[in-house]
Amino acid sequence: MKIISVVGARPNFMKVAPVHKAFNQLKIKNDKLKIEHLICHTGQHFDFNMSKVFFDELGLPEPDFYLGVGSGSHAQQTAGIMIEFEKILLNEKPDLVIVVGDVNSTIACSLTACKLHIKVAHIEAGLRSFDRSMPEEVNRILTDSISDYLFVTEKSGLENLKHEGIFDQKVYFVGNVMIDSLINLIPKADKSGIHSSLGLTKGNYIVVTIHRPHNVDFKEKLSEIIGMLNRLAEKRKIVFPVHPRTKKSMDNFGLMKNIHDNVILTDPLGYIDFISLIKNSELIITDSGGIQEESTFLGKQCITCRPTTERPITVETGTNHLVGDDFRTTEITANEILSGHKKQGVIPPLWDGKASERIVEIIINSFTH
Ligand code: UD1
Repeated sequence: MKIISVVGARPNFMKVAPVHKAFNQLKIKNDKLKIEHLICHTGQHFDFNMSKVFFDELGLPEPDFYLGVGSGSHAQQTAGIMIEFEKILLNEKPDLVIVVGDVNSTIACSLTACKLHIKVAHIEAGLRSFDRSMPEEVNRILTDSISDYLFVTEKSGLENLKHEGIFDQKVYFVGNVMIDSLINLIPKADKSGIHSSLGLTKGNYIVVTIHRPHNVDFKEKLSEIIGMLNRLAEKRKIVFPVHPRTKKSMDNFGLMKNIHDNVILTDPLGYIDFISLIKNSELIITDSGGIQEESTFLGKQCITCRPTTERPITVETGTNHLVGDDFRTTEITANEILSGHKKQGVIPPLWDGKASERIVEIIINSFTH
C-alpha cells in the first residue's frame, strides 16, 4: 500500500510528523504489512525557519518529493501546486493521499488526487469558523467535501460535517495529531535555552504571534497592534516572533521604529523553542489557529484576536479567550489576566497523544479488510 502525505506550510509539519512515526511503528510491529509512507512538500513555505527547522526537530525525513512552488497569489499558488502534484500522482499511483489542516496546499493536493480517483484522507476535518472571508475556511469546506476519510479533532467538527451532509461512515473522531507532536516534544522543549538567550524569566512574559492578512496587511490595524504591545510592555516583557508576512508589512509601513525595549522581536522560531516559550508564558496573544489548541492543552491563558474561531472547544472548555479583532478589547482582557483573572480549562477528549495511532489503524484496517 502506497500513501503520500502532503506538507506545505509551517502548521502542517507538526501534524504529519506523528503520523509518519505511527506508520513506522506499525511496520516494526508487523513486518508483513507492506506500507510505503511517502512525504511530499509543496514548498508553500520555503525559508529555513518556516520549514527546514521543523523537519530537523520533528524527526521528519527529507521529503520524497519537493514541488518548490513558493509564494504567489492564491490562484497561482494553488494552481502551481496542483500542476506539480498531478505529475507525482501519475508517476507514483498511490492508494491514498493524506492532507492536513487548511492551507492552500491542503485543497490543492486533495482536489488533484480526487480528480485522479485517488482516495483522500483529511486530518483535522470539520472545523468551521463560518467566516468565508478567511481563505482557510474555504479550503476546509472544499477539502472536506471531497475527502473519503475525515479525521476530526473536536466534537464541533462532527456536528459541522453532519450539517453539511457528509456520510457518518466517512467521519472518525480521533483526537488531535498536533497535540501528539506537542506531547512528543515537551521533554526536548523543557531543555531549550531560549529563556536565557532572550533574557526572560519563566512565568513572567507574554508571547505574541500575529500574521492573519486582516491584522497585518493594513497600516492602521498593524499600528494599533504595535501601540497595544508598547503599552503592555510597560508591565511585562513581550516576545514577538515575527512571521514573514508581518515582517514585510512592518517594514513597508515603517513600523519597526518606536518599538518599546521590552518588546523582543525575533525571527520565526523553531518548534522546540516556541513550545518552550508558550509552556512557560503568563499569557499568549495570537491570531493563529493551532496555538489556540496548544495553549488549551498546556493550560495557558490565550487571547485570540479574531472575531471567530474554528476551534470552539478551546473557548468553551479550554483556556482560550476569543475577543474579536478590536485590539482595545484585547488590551483590556490582557490587563485583566495579568492582574489574576485567569480562566480554568480542561483538556478536550482524545487530546492524549494517540490520535496518529488511531488514524493509522483506521486507514490500515480499511485497506486490508
Ligand atoms: C499560510 C496559511 C495560513 C497559516 C500560515 C502559517 C494559506 C491560505 N494560509 O499563510 O493558514 O496560518 O501559512 O504560517 O495557506 N513567506 C516567506 N517565507 C516563507 C513563507 C512565506 O517569506 O517561507 C512570505 C511569502 O512570500 C508571502 C508571505 O510570507 O509574502 C505569506 O506566505 P503565504 O504562504 O502566502 O501565506 P501565510 O500568510 O504564511
